[in-house]
Amino acid sequence: MVPINLDDYERLARERLPQMVFDYYFGGAGDELTIRENRVGWQRLRLRPRVLVDVATRDLSTTVLGQRLSFPVLTAPCAFNALAHPEGECAVARAATAAGIIQVVSTAGTFSLEEVAAAAPAGARWFQLYCYRDRGVTRSLVERATGAGYRALCLTVDAPLVGRRDRDERNRFGLPPGMTWKNLERVGLDRMEAREEGSALVQYISEIWDPSLTWEAIEWLRSLSQLPLVIKGILTADDAGRAVDSGAAVIIVSNHGGRQLDGTLSTSEALAEVADAVGDRVEILVDGGIRRGSDILKALALGARAVLIGRPYLWALAVAGQAGVEHLLELLRDELDLDMALSGRPTIASIDRTLLCRADGELKK
Ligand code: FNR
Ligand code: LAC
Repeated sequence: MVPINLDDYERLARERLPQMVFDYYFGGAGDELTIRENRVGWQRLRLRPRVLVDVATRDLSTTVLGQRLSFPVLTAPCAFNALAHPEGECAVARAATAAGIIQVVSTAGTFSLEEVAAAAPAGARWFQLYCYRDRGVTRSLVERATGAGYRALCLTVDAPLVGRRDRDERNRFGLPPGMTWKNLERVGLDRMEAREEGSALVQYISEIWDPSLTWEAIEWLRSLSQLPLVIKGILTADDAGRAVDSGAAVIIVSNHGGRQLDGTLSTSEALAEVADAVGDRVEILVDGGIRRGSDILKALALGARAVLIGRPYLWALAVAGQAGVEHLLELLRDELDLDMALSGRPTIASIDRTLLCRADGELKK
């Protein structure tokens, strides 16, 4: 099968990947309700196209933090890319750079942040952080990311502990021999082999991440670096306001792809709330369940500046490495391009709330 949409890549990856890896990538917490709702949330929104608009040329480009994107998509920080393909995060770096978009690189990389930067030096990338009980570990990651030319720091705040993912418990998820949390090699925290019982990820994280983190940490992080701070994992207006007051330059509305607390707001619902509260004060991004160009259109109409995609690029990486990720991004770009034409919105600036209503009535402005 030649993949012609993002879900095709998922089907192909499912056939190729070992069960333990597929389940880790695919799965989420609890009954996986949030994974489903993220998807359904975008599908429930209805588009209100305008006709007889000149759409002969379309411009999909935009900026995030002043950085030009060829279209409004970033790759989300996802752990352990080498489980999908031996070139892992480096292949994603090259594909994102070729596509003219930003790669958000996970702390939990199977290549070091310096290796990823060196794989595509011309590209723009952000570094995603977790906070360790030993603040020196986080401080050194901040310094390394700054030194390696990363353009922003992205603190993920929805994971004081890791969600309980039944698939990983059953499969006794752990990293295969030779694969590590490469960024933490220098501090001896890089090993995460399978253990006797349960998910090694859960045990690893409960030992070393800091579950006592509060808003104070944002101030601390901002004191370490001049880089703009992105806060990922906001779902409510209250927390969004707090994040902006703390100096966040970007908020990512996210429920971690349904991998943390199961049963949360879907990301489209949370985006509407957050955009209404702080949309005029900060750049807002969103991720979770984005699989079609029309989902991007809906996210932008609700008030996002751009979206991130997580699992889809892991599927493409598993199927065809860098070329697969490039192709997947092209498919998504083409879908958005066509949907902008068919909805009478030829530029990003022309996409607004008047493009949307819910299946059960109009959205509030
Ligand atoms: C993630 N995500 C994630 N987020 C983060 O901040 N740091 C990380 O290390 C990871 N790791 C990770 C691994 C895997 C396998 C997945 C699928 C996801 C969450 C990710 O950044 C993003 O929020 C979601 O994946 C978005 O949802 P979709 O696009 O996968 O539906
Ligand atoms: C995950 C962690 C590593 O979602 O963020 O698997």
